[in-house]
Amino acid sequence: MKDPKAIIAADKNHIWHPFTQAQTAPDAIPIVRGDGAKLFDADGNEYLDLISSWWVNTHGHGHPKIAGAIARQAEQLEHVIFAGFTHEPAVRLAEKLSNVLPGDLSRVFYSDNGSTAVEVALKLTFQYWRNKGEARKKFLAFEGGYHGDTVGAMSVGQSSGFFDAWQELLFDVGTLPFPATWQGDDDVETKEKKSFLALEQYLNEHGADTCAMILEPLVQGAGGMRMCRPEFLKSFVQKLQTAGVLVIFDEVMTGFGRTGDLFACRKADVVPDIICLSKGLTGGFMPLSATVCRDELYAVFLDESFDKAFTHGHSFTANPLGCAAALASLELTVSSETQSRIDVIAKIHKDRLEKLAAFAPLECPRQTGTIAAIDVKAADSGYTAGIGPALKAYFMERGLLIRPLGNVMYVLPPYCIADEDLHRAYDGIEAAVQTIL
Ligand SMILES: Cc1ncc(COP(=O)(O)O)c(C=O)c1O
Repeated sequence: MKDPKAIIAADKNHIWHPFTQAQTAPDAIPIVRGDGAKLFDADGNEYLDLISSWWVNTHGHGHPKIAGAIARQAEQLEHVIFAGFTHEPAVRLAEKLSNVLPGDLSRVFYSDNGSTAVEVALKLTFQYWRNKGEARKKFLAFEGGYHGDTVGAMSVGQSSGFFDAWQELLFDVGTLPFPATWQGDDDVETKEKKSFLALEQYLNEHGADTCAMILEPLVQGAGGMRMCRPEFLKSFVQKLQTAGVLVIFDEVMTGFGRTGDLFACRKADVVPDIICLSKGLTGGFMPLSATVCRDELYAVFLDESFDKAFTHGHSFTANPLGCAAALASLELTVSSETQSRIDVIAKIHKDRLEKLAAFAPLECPRQTGTIAAIDVKAADSGYTAGIGPALKAYFMERGLLIRPLGNVMYVLPPYCIADEDLHRAYDGIEAAVQTIL
């Protein structure tokens, strides 16, 4: 194997990293191995993965059950075109997803990642209305929502502030205020009323022209781990559906146990018309996503004419290795061991957030299941807030992989993390607050 310095040099010569300003960023760290919640670099240094590697890893790195399922599948069938062909892993996964999703969310369209899952949902709802003979063109989203980096996903996520460079490329989307709340928030009802009022006004003006509203249920991830109340979400969705607007839940981040329940929609007790799944779908092992819709939507694409078919597909649609990984991961996710780990993580988050809330430089502690977040009081907030890189560097020097979203510190670990490791992360956060804030 190349020595670490040679890997870094070759990386600098040839690699273009995501979300990175290469001119100012520190060298990328060559990782050679993962085990449970830990990653190891080429020099033997250890990093505790407290962000589940961009929120994908649910059961730990190198989990033998998922690794074994992929290896067995690779020897059997690594891939096959999914138009005109099918295979058991895709079918079994679709059946299993239908069983764990609420209501009649049971028609599965596979693609490769969170952005394509969203893209599929947007195109599908647009064509749904066209197939029904209604020319609806508008989409609706929450302020601060993020749904991925492809052009449609950027359009519905443009208020997240990540996409200024492409503003003129994006299509117009209606946005409503998101009632972000936290522990001890006295204004939550006022904010929720404001959201309902804005929805009412929007529906009066554009309801009949709107294909769908897309939203991250309960937790807006990249927008800063902003959380809303399940009761709010439930009545908001009811209002949309009563008005005849389709509802797309982007559970790319919140799915597979993150919110404490298997899906945020189950926690909020609502059935969206479409749900987008990725990240934790394969336990973070393979790039795969699923856009699952209600049977009633699928029926609108059935016809003697090809015009009404959903003419969208990707080379790697329903990749068998991804489906095998997802089947193994789902089995682990619904096991009683994982469920109790999720409960323990939620309890540790709760106790340690309570302690953090007492630190003067911090505010707005919040938690939904295994996701915990707290804000650093800062003159500048948002993803580019100055304090973010300093905090990240402090954590990395101590072997803690925590990547604040600007002034928002959050912890979102794999479910297998040991209690003492999670406490170590919170000890590190407390030390950072005392040292550099
Ligand atoms: C809620 C949500 N939707 C969509 C995406 C895009 O997923 P991907 O990066 O796999 O394209 C993300 C990624 O962070 C996300 O958090």
